[in-house]
Amino acid sequence: MRYIGKEMRRVDGIAKVTGRAKYAAEFELSNLAYGYLTLSEIAKGTITSIDTSEAERAPGVLQIFTHLNVPKLFPALPGGPDNKEFRPLMSPKIVFNGQPIAVAVANTFEQARYASQLIKVTYSQEKPVTDLRTAIDSAKETNAQKSPPPRGRLAIAYAPAPFKVEQEYNIPVEHHNPIEPHGATAFWKDGKLTIFDKSQNVYQVRDYLAQTFKIVPEDVNVITLFVGGAFGSSLTVNYYPPLVALAAREVKRPVRLVYTRRQMFTGHGYRPDTWQKVAIAADEDGKLTAISHRAVINTSTFENYFEDYFKVARTVYKCPNVETLYQNVVTDLPTPVAMRAPAAVSNMFALECALDELSYQLKIDPLELRLINYAETDPETGKPFSSKALRECYSLAAEKFGWRNRNPEPRSMRDGDLLVGWGVATGIWGAFQRPASAKVVYKSDGTAHVTSSTTDIGPGTYTVMTIIAAEHLGLDPAKIKFELGNSLYPKAPAQGGSWTTASVGSAIYGAVQNIRKQLLDLAKKDASSPLATADVDDVEMIDGVLRLKSDASETVDLSELLRKFGIEEVEDTYQSNPSPEREKYAIGAHSAQFVEVKVDPQLGTVHVTRVIEASACGKIMNPKTSHSQEIGGAIWGIGMALMEGTEIDHRYGRILNPTLADYHVPVHADAHQIETIFVEEDDKIVNPLGVKGMGELGLVGIPAAIANAVFHATGIRVRDLPITPDKLLKRGLA
Ligand code: MOS
Repeated sequence: MRYIGKEMRRVDGIAKVTGRAKYAAEFELSNLAYGYLTLSEIAKGTITSIDTSEAERAPGVLQIFTHLNVPKLFPALPGGPDNKEFRPLMSPKIVFNGQPIAVAVANTFEQARYASQLIKVTYSQEKPVTDLRTAIDSAKETNAQKSPPPRGRLAIAYAPAPFKVEQEYNIPVEHHNPIEPHGATAFWKDGKLTIFDKSQNVYQVRDYLAQTFKIVPEDVNVITLFVGGAFGSSLTVNYYPPLVALAAREVKRPVRLVYTRRQMFTGHGYRPDTWQKVAIAADEDGKLTAISHRAVINTSTFENYFEDYFKVARTVYKCPNVETLYQNVVTDLPTPVAMRAPAAVSNMFALECALDELSYQLKIDPLELRLINYAETDPETGKPFSSKALRECYSLAAEKFGWRNRNPEPRSMRDGDLLVGWGVATGIWGAFQRPASAKVVYKSDGTAHVTSSTTDIGPGTYTVMTIIAAEHLGLDPAKIKFELGNSLYPKAPAQGGSWTTASVGSAIYGAVQNIRKQLLDLAKKDASSPLATADVDDVEMIDGVLRLKSDASETVDLSELLRKFGIEEVEDTYQSNPSPEREKYAIGAHSAQFVEVKVDPQLGTVHVTRVIEASACGKIMNPKTSHSQEIGGAIWGIGMALMEGTEIDHRYGRILNPTLADYHVPVHADAHQIETIFVEEDDKIVNPLGVKGMGELGLVGIPAAIANAVFHATGIRVRDLPITPDKLLKRGLA
């Protein structure tokens, strides 16, 4: 391989750091108008009056949209009987605090914002329910996601077991806080809509808007060239794109609308409020005999949100008796949405902390306990893994970390006055692949143009797709132009689930195979060609020639070949699909995550001073951006473990900390030594490129590893995230 597996800088790096990269709210259009949202101040009830007369008279105002004057759009949209999608400005009903109830459109942003403050609203209020924990008893399974039947006989195995842990674990609502706020710029021309949106899925936005405005999907062009972080918050269509498009249609001017930071706390979903109860049992040797896992998360009154909560308890460790139960509680909050490593990170927090607790009872090293229960085949299905280098990850990361020097006694390790703790956890994520298409155009001048509608929310998709195309077309990456984020390009799935490289990369790979075949067919038209009898698999493209793999001197110059036939370029649009072969295997990505914390016993502050993480996620396309992904996951884990939590005043169903001053995320000073290692797997089953998901993987075990390290440092087990100083001090840290 010439480019795959070699470090490459981001092809869009210079555009990003020089400001040339244009984000959704940065496209300059002449005669642009600005929208500003007014949000509901109650969580539940009805608008009894909304007076916009003063706002309408304010300087620069073009129009104020409310449920009273908005045309009835939004036809029945897809979703089961349980899913009644929230449609903004369609009725006076209030279903969450912070719900949009008006859009002011004016000549400038300031005028629109000022006008919105002049809108007078009265409500009839009902008492909201937003506290999951007071409503656990009302939790229900939904039709959308029933727990699989129990495995084995849990009750019989659990009761007599000599070692048990039964505990509850809490994770609060958490909000994605990407640096780029959500927003869009839209304009209409000749009945066709163009919208620059912050999205992870341009085709979904396109189809949604086409349905909304009753036009054909081809008349909607969604463009998302750059995304300043999304993490799931733009995985589904948020409520603002149809509002921006509607406003642009009605005022007959381009309109831009961007959330303020505060508005981002109710403008898209969030990681659900999560209560979990885990009961695990083991025999004297540390072998797990029973796992019971119940998870309850909140949803909204109008949609059932679910995440795959079954997988972790059923598949991470070998265990004959397993029961899982997953339930929803209805709350007067917006609907949650996927947030980086949805379900997996939450489940692993509970399971990996419980396992750590068990290790102290058993007096078995926590790493050793994981090895004792290592699953060689999928415990749920019995299928072999297509590849699973987790054992190598454990040993490599443990060695690098110096795990063998760990004193097992809590509160036994010190650095001066600071308490030192070491913790471990396992990470898992899927190796998903979704149908995806890409178009490759190979030109007679030895360059190529590659397009797919996927987005790049930060992992380095521009770069990785360039590498894949360069490798297989045999061209220098500088000769490849890869473009994404436009609904005019071939259809690709949402960028989510860490499946983009597997999906879109496989489509590019497939298109290149077809181009090679087309070129070989052309070459074969000349009976004297050195490739006259070659098969497509016998030849490769390299530096502008097609050559025999077995004899590098047998070549055909591609520019000459195309010129000879008067052809400017050859192209192929390819849709790749997951291979049915995958069904025969258990497929996933794994990692081992070791963490050191230092805790100040006087202040209760926790610093994550070291993270060593080894990941097995197939073939690494670009080590540079891949390490960035894993480092980002670890930093996210620091935030989740120690800082992040959306506070809700349950009397009013209102978020109390909707700013970055009050909602804390890690900053540079919180990121110390973070070392990420890859154990590459040669996996021919997952997809032709042998790649697995990695972005979410890097986060999955980290919050548990940190909580386990905090216990080792302090002897205090905090089961409610985030682990803030007050929780440690209250429990007698000093
Ligand atoms: Mo992600 S949470 O798969 O956008």
